[in-house]
Amino acid sequence: MRKSILFVLVSGALLFSCRPDSSTVDPFNYVQVKDTTVSNGAVASAHPLASAAGAYILRKGGNAVDAAIATQFALAVVFPEAGNIGGGGFTVIRLKDGTNITIDYREKAPGKAFRDMYLDSAGNPLLNLSQDGHLASGVPGAVAGMFAALKYGTMKIDKLIQPAIDLAEKGFAITASEARGLNRHKEDFLKYNTVVPAFVREDREWQEGDTLIQTDLANTLKRIKEEGAKGFYEGETAKLIVEEMERGGGIISYDDLKNYEAKEREPILFDYKGYEILTMPLPSSGGIIVEQMLKTSKMFNLDQMKFNSAEAVNLMAEIERRSFADRGKYLGDPDFYKVPVKALVNEDYLKERMADFVPGKAGNSKDIKEGFIPESEETTHYSVIDKDGNAVSTTTTINGGYGSRVVVGHAGFLMNNEMDDFSVKPGVPNMFGAVGQEANAVQANKRMLSSMTPTIILKDGKPWAILGTPGGTTIITSVYQTIVDLIDFKMSAHDAVNKPKFHHQWLPDVLYLEKGFDENVQKSLEAMGYTIKPRGAIGRTEVILVNDDGTITAVADRRGDDSAAGY
Ligand code: GLY
Repeated sequence: MRKSILFVLVSGALLFSCRPDSSTVDPFNYVQVKDTTVSNGAVASAHPLASAAGAYILRKGGNAVDAAIATQFALAVVFPEAGNIGGGGFTVIRLKDGTNITIDYREKAPGKAFRDMYLDSAGNPLLNLSQDGHLASGVPGAVAGMFAALKYGTMKIDKLIQPAIDLAEKGFAITASEARGLNRHKEDFLKYNTVVPAFVREDREWQEGDTLIQTDLANTLKRIKEEGAKGFYEGETAKLIVEEMERGGGIISYDDLKNYEAKEREPILFDYKGYEILTMPLPSSGGIIVEQMLKTSKMFNLDQMKFNSAEAVNLMAEIERRSFADRGKYLGDPDFYKVPVKALVNEDYLKERMADFVPGKAGNSKDIKEGFIPESEETTHYSVIDKDGNAVSTTTTINGGYGSRVVVGHAGFLMNNEMDDFSVKPGVPNMFGAVGQEANAVQANKRMLSSMTPTIILKDGKPWAILGTPGGTTIITSVYQTIVDLIDFKMSAHDAVNKPKFHHQWLPDVLYLEKGFDENVQKSLEAMGYTIKPRGAIGRTEVILVNDDGTITAVADRRGDDSAAGY
């Protein structure tokens, strides 16, 4: 099924009409494509222009890695809320020859970071410092990540980055939700910046269809095009970042930038009911936790239960509760902390963890105070496949919506507020309500724990589904549920993406149900003893599924401006 949503521009009532899977990328004339089925290759991402940039590269003969790089740079321009070069992420790649690769370009704590840097003299957490402004930023990894991926591509960076340069230089029409986001953050952009960024409109509020031009960002992208990763981590861009930090009280130094390295990690690969799940290892907590959840699910008759029934949600929420308890205690950057990975995914251990599960009854997560979960949890995901069966799954982030809200003066890109993903103090919840301990304490040059879970499901040794989502800690539960929906509940990709999701993360001891959840099921869950809280959207999942006949269905989430493209 293919569904196109047409935008109507407020000013001049100009209709966006062109199809994003054509070979040109028209930034003033585009549609959101929620589902598309194609024969050769596809991209699903958070923005139609980013998906179109990736699909354009596929048409030009690039492989999935080339297309992913073009998508990443385009997202940095057209989706400033979460697309980025000032953040970091994880990429999972399956090459057509069967090689599995995972690239970690998570941000790092700056060299001057230290354990109690977000505590006052009485030991109270100062979460505004880990979440807002210059001190909230880790050393960005995204550009290093793209160059680490480039060796698996077939095209040169100048071709892959050009769509992003054009979009930044010549501008594009913003969507209604982007206009709302920019307007909502105007005060923050003025408060946290020493140079007024392009995101601030002085004369009036942003409206759908307004043109956003980002000249400074275009120049930064051109330096990356000319000089490679050095065009970001050294020279003029590094100077602009360090000067911005000095003006605003941040601590990222020239050495932090120069020494940043993306790392290839040993992928997580395990069996789930005859499918192989290929996903991201530490410093993503997502891969280990999804492995725990799926292996535990296998011990119960989940596939005999009904999707989102009280019985299924009860079981899955109790699995989620226990896995998140482990996340808080044990997981952190493996370069700094010895994480008992094997023990955590051992099936006897997982069986033991469920010994106190009583079907039909809510468990409880006592003794640690409740965290709070804000609405904005902006990360972004894209999935790509090409005609040869190379597949890429990437989740990338600046953490909160518009990150630290600091735009590097004269360089035009937003910095992350990823330092908040460290545990600033044992037991104190971060912006996602997640608690951590020693394993994830702040330390110079350490990577903060992440929930990002880019994943590829293999069937008969070939990519079958490519998936992932933003959503802070809900990333892990959304990926878990999407896999179960596809494999156990045999859902279409469309339904697996769009049907309501739920979330339990141990602390706070709350079961979150997404809008649209069946009211009778909610009542049954309350009767079991769950404290239920409604949530707006959970995640923005992008799934690409390879059908039995070899065609490719790409589904972009209904919850945002997400869009699929292919040919
Ligand atoms: N910043 C969200 C995450 O990495 O989990």
